[in-house]
Amino acid sequence: MPQAVNPKASLSVAILSGKGGVGKTNLALNMSYALFRAGHRVLLMDFDVGLANVDVLLGLSPEKNLQDLFRPEVGAAEVMVAVEPGGFDFLPAASGVPELLEMDDDMREILFQKLNASFGDYDYLMLDLGAGISQTVLSVAVMSHVRVLVVTPEPTSLTDSYAVIKVLHTQYGVTDFHILVNQVDSPGDIKATFNRLAAACQHFLGFSPELLGGVRSDPALPDAVRRQIPLLRHAPRSPAAQDVLGCAVKLHRVRQARQEALADMPLLGKIPRPRK
Ligand SMILES: Nc1ncnc2c1ncn2[C@@H]1O[C@H](COP(=O)(O)OP(=O)(O)OP(=O)(O)O)[C@@H](O)[C@H]1O
Ligand SMILES: [Mg+2]
Repeated sequence: MPQAVNPKASLSVAILSGKGGVGKTNLALNMSYALFRAGHRVLLMDFDVGLANVDVLLGLSPEKNLQDLFRPEVGAAEVMVAVEPGGFDFLPAASGVPELLEMDDDMREILFQKLNASFGDYDYLMLDLGAGISQTVLSVAVMSHVRVLVVTPEPTSLTDSYAVIKVLHTQYGVTDFHILVNQVDSPGDIKATFNRLAAACQHFLGFSPELLGGVRSDPALPDAVRRQIPLLRHAPRSPAAQDVLGCAVKLHRVRQARQEALADMPLLGKIPRPRK
């Protein structure tokens, strides 16, 4: 029998957004934390290669980062940092390194070849991306098993989110998106925001994304940022922390539903080529 390429059925999750500053990094970090607390092994990867800041939210100053992986003698394990012992690791990126921002397909291929060998140890690979539609964002989004698009109720976030979905659909044929509505004032905001985006997708592109969940606006979150402690540790009972837990549970259900198919999929697929 041929060996499964992904025997643990690990799930790669790209966290992206149209507009910047909507909460991607905090949600990636805290959903990772929630999954780890639930007993899963998680690798959080900072793929905001221009403006990396997961390390700042964790109060860490990693010695090595993604850029070091381009040196032949450096292996993935040397670059990873344990956030919590027992299965919550972090792979730092580098800020202000233009070479990483302008990574071409060959560079990405080298990087992912090196990383793919270690990815299989984890149940979840969470990829925190930069805002917008740079080539790196698009490639990683297409290669991942699941795309979580963080949206806020602001009209500018909605239009930018639609633009991200449209470009991934028209250039790469992607139709599978999970929407996470952040910074909502009431539960009604979640459905209203999701419905507006879903209606535009259905009308213009012929498919609808799925709703992952919503996270309330909560002063505990900026407070956790200032203290450089993940929200789930700083204020586990806060409204936003509770909402993040709900989103993590939903993500786990997505993984369970796809378990069989995942075993035959590499953790990060092939570097995608856009349609002409
Ligand atoms: N649910 C929330 N409640 C209150 N404030 C929030 C919430 N989510 C995000 N914020 C605020 O938004 C700020 C930006 O969050 P974060 O850095 O996670 O966004 P981002 O989308 O990763 O930004 P970038 O596009 O620059 O990478 C946080 O520091 C916090 O102040
Ligand atoms: Mg960010």
